[in-house]
Amino acid sequence: MITGQYPRQPSDFVVSLNRWVLRVAAYAALMTDQYPPFRLDQGGHEPGALTMPPSSGPGMQAGPAGDPVPPGLAGRQGLLTAGVVALLLAVTLIIVPARRAAARATSAGGPARTRTWESRVNIAYYHASKYGNGAMVAEEFKKVLAARGLTVAVSHIRDANPKDLPAADLYVFSSPGRFGKPKGNARRFLANVCLEPGTRYAILTTQAAPKPDPKTGKLPSQEEQDRWEQVIPVMNELLLAKGLRKTAEGTVLVTGLKGPLEDGWRTKVAAFADQVTGVLRARTA
Ligand SMILES: Cc1cc2nc3c(=O)[nH]c(=O)nc-3n(C[C@H](O)[C@H](O)[C@H](O)COP(=O)(O)O)c2cc1C
Repeated sequence: MITGQYPRQPSDFVVSLNRWVLRVAAYAALMTDQYPPFRLDQGGHEPGALTMPPSSGPGMQAGPAGDPVPPGLAGRQGLLTAGVVALLLAVTLIIVPARRAAARATSAGGPARTRTWESRVNIAYYHASKYGNGAMVAEEFKKVLAARGLTVAVSHIRDANPKDLPAADLYVFSSPGRFGKPKGNARRFLANVCLEPGTRYAILTTQAAPKPDPKTGKLPSQEEQDRWEQVIPVMNELLLAKGLRKTAEGTVLVTGLKGPLEDGWRTKVAAFADQVTGVLRARTA
């Protein structure tokens, strides 16, 4: 610079640096996914490329090694170098971190803010409804949880293989009452369930509302009802024996032997949904 000459070695360095920076620019412009390794090279021979004569000619400046550099090239290379250094800084400080953050979000299954705990939870609901009341309760539960962003897959037990249930964060089992116990097919289903010990489950039953004694007009006492209504205890016994973990239980009543569901049954389903949601939130959020 002081002598007004541009020596060959610094010129080569600047050319090779520019080559690397252009490779980085290609990466930043999404032309390639491979971040280029830092390498200073002059590149291979390019067919038809201009080659410089070995000696000084008119208009050439000679470097200390005697190699010629075209006039004005030194100044232009200086400007170009300043430009590429600025580009390099922008790429290193802004574009590379932004690309890495985008790649991390993609490998995690999407931007982090869209992955709420509710979207990660999956509930499987199996019922043994005969007259349709339990099926309505199941659909209501599914609707309430869907409004909270949770997914529930509802199936009748006849459509499921208890030994090969799909993976879920929580299993809900529902049975109608029959002579004080869960319905026979529900009992057999639960006895055959194969799930890892520690798996969480919840129980929701449909049972007949207690009726007054036709002679005395009196409702059965709580003790008499508990003795008769062994639906939930039998279901728990079968599932706890497998090492499963109970998270919630509830009952919705029917006013006749085959229905309909009691007034305000949706409130009971919502209360059961609250229990389930609370447990799942505490565990997953
Ligand atoms: C033969 C028979 C026996 C029943 N025994 C009981 C019982 O012991 N306890 C009870 O709470 N409900 C009993 N129920 C009422 C059922 O709970 C009711 O039919 C069921 O909840 C309806 O559900 P579903 O429509 O999903 O089948 C009985 C119903 C029938 C038809």
